[in-house]
Amino acid sequence: MGVLAVNLHTMTTKPQSVATSEFLEKVESRTAKIGIIGLGYVGLPLALLYSEQKFVITGFDIDQKKVDTIAAGGTYIVRISGEEIQQAKKSGFNATADFGRIGEMDAVIICVPTPLNEYHEPDMTYIVNTVEAIAPHVREGQLIVLESTTYPGTTEDVVIPLLEKGNKRGLKTARKELDGGFYVAFSPEREDPGNDTVARRDIPKVIGGVGEVATRMACAMYGSIFNRTVPVSTPATAEMTKLLENIYRCVNIALVNELKLLCQRMDIDIWEVIDAAKTKPFGFHPFYPGPGLGGHCIPVDPFYLSWKAKEFDFRTRFIELAGEVNVAMPYHVVTSVADALNVRKKALNGSKVLMLGVAYKKDIDDLRESPALTIIELLQKAGAEVRYNDPYFAFVGKGRKYDLQMKNTPLDNLGEYDCVLIVTDHSDYDYKKIVKESKLVVDTRNATKGISAPNIVRC
Ligand SMILES: NC(=O)c1ccc[n+]([C@@H]2O[C@H](COP(=O)([O-])OP(=O)(O)OC[C@H]3O[C@@H](n4cnc5c(N)ncnc54)[C@H](O)[C@@H]3O)[C@@H](O)[C@H]2O)c1
Repeated sequence: MGVLAVNLHTMTTKPQSVATSEFLEKVESRTAKIGIIGLGYVGLPLALLYSEQKFVITGFDIDQKKVDTIAAGGTYIVRISGEEIQQAKKSGFNATADFGRIGEMDAVIICVPTPLNEYHEPDMTYIVNTVEAIAPHVREGQLIVLESTTYPGTTEDVVIPLLEKGNKRGLKTARKELDGGFYVAFSPEREDPGNDTVARRDIPKVIGGVGEVATRMACAMYGSIFNRTVPVSTPATAEMTKLLENIYRCVNIALVNELKLLCQRMDIDIWEVIDAAKTKPFGFHPFYPGPGLGGHCIPVDPFYLSWKAKEFDFRTRFIELAGEVNVAMPYHVVTSVADALNVRKKALNGSKVLMLGVAYKKDIDDLRESPALTIIELLQKAGAEVRYNDPYFAFVGKGRKYDLQMKNTPLDNLGEYDCVLIVTDHSDYDYKKIVKESKLVVDTRNATKGISAPNIVRC
C-alpha cells in the first residue's frame, strides 16, 4: 500500500510504500536489524562498524568455528581485538549458522568469497549457495545487498533470478516505488587491509540499486556508517566500478614490475626513480614493484572481467598482459636468489634460505594468493632448504593451492642461512640487525632502503 511520506534522506514528499518508510525510519532510529552473511575480512569489520552505531547485527556464517568464537567473545582476525567483539556483543552482535533467521532481518548484506576456479574462471559457488540459502526466507520490504567483488551483471543475472526462484512467498524484486516485493542493490567493499591512513568511515561507499528506491534505502543504511555514499545508476555500474579500481592497481603494479626489470639491467634504482617521480604534484600516482601480486583482490578480480568480456567477443588485453608480468615476478625472485648465491660460489640446490614474511603484504595476517607461497615451492623444487619467519603465522599448513606444513622459525640465528630473503616488509623487523647478522640478504621490497652493505641484493 502506498502512503505519502517525507523522504528522510532527500526531504522531498513523494509516494512511498509503507515498507520503505518503515525501513528508513528504522535506519534513522538504529532499530533496523541487519544480517551480514560471511564473517571474514570484509564481513566482520562491517558488522563492528554497524554495531558501533548501535544497530543490532546478526552475522551468518557456515564456518561453525567463527560462530563459536564470536559467541565466546573471541576473535580470529589479528587486527580485530577480542575487546571489540565483546563491545559489539553488548550492542546485540550475535553470530549464527541458522539461515532460518534471515526473515528477522530488515536488511541482509552478502560478503562471501569470490575466488577463481582451477581454470582461472569466476567461482560463483559461494554467491550461489548463499543466495539459495537465503531465498526461501526473504520477505516483503527487505533489502538485500551484495558486497562480494564480481563481474558486471551478477546482481541482475545471478542473484535476482535465484532470489525470485527460491522465495517461498513467490515475491519478486521491487524495481520502483509501490512495486511490493524485496529490494536489491550492489555495493562494493573498498577496504585496504593494513592501511590505517584512511578511517574506514571516510572511504566513500558506491551503491547501485535495482531501481531508485533500493538505491535510496541502501544509501540510508550505509550512510549511517560511512561519511559519504556515492549512488550510481545500476548494480552493473557499481560492479564495474570496483573492477576498474582493482584493474587500475593490477595494471600499474605490472608496469612498475616490468620497469624494475629494465632498471636492474640498466643499473638504475627503480625505487629512487619512483620517489623522484611522485614529487610531481599532478598526473602521477606511485605504485611499487614487489615479489608478485597477493591477496584476495588484485590477482583475482581482473579475471572476473576478462572472463565476462569473452561473452561480448572482447579481449581485455591490458588485464592479460598485466597478469603475465605479475605472475612472472616470483620466478624473477628465485632467479635473483640463485644469481646472488652464484656470485658467492654457491648453488641454490642445497642452500639454506630463510624467508622473511609470508603474508601477501606488510603487517597483515592474510596468506591468500601470497607470492611467498609460490616462491617457497619454487625454491624447494630447486633443492633449497627453506624456512620462514612471520610474526603473523605460527604455522603454514594447507590452502587451496598449497600444502607446506611449515612452522615459524625464530630469528635468533641468521648467520646459519646462506640467504635471508625479504618477501614481506613487516614493520616489526629490525632490518639493520638482519643485514648485520646475515651472510646475504635478498630484498624484494626495498625494506633495506638507507642501509648500505655489500651483502644486500635488491631484486
Ligand atoms: N579482504 C579484502 O580486503 C577485500 C577487499 C575488498 C573486497 N573484498 C571482497 O569481499 C568478498 C569477501 O572477502 P573476504 O576477504 O571477507 O573473504 P573471507 O574468506 O575472509 O570471508 C568470507 C566468509 O564467508 C563465509 N562463507 C562462505 N560461504 C558462505 C555461505 N554460503 N554462507 C555464509 N557464509 C559463507 C566463510 O566461512 C568466511 O567466513 C570477496 O568477494 C572479496 O573479493 C575483499
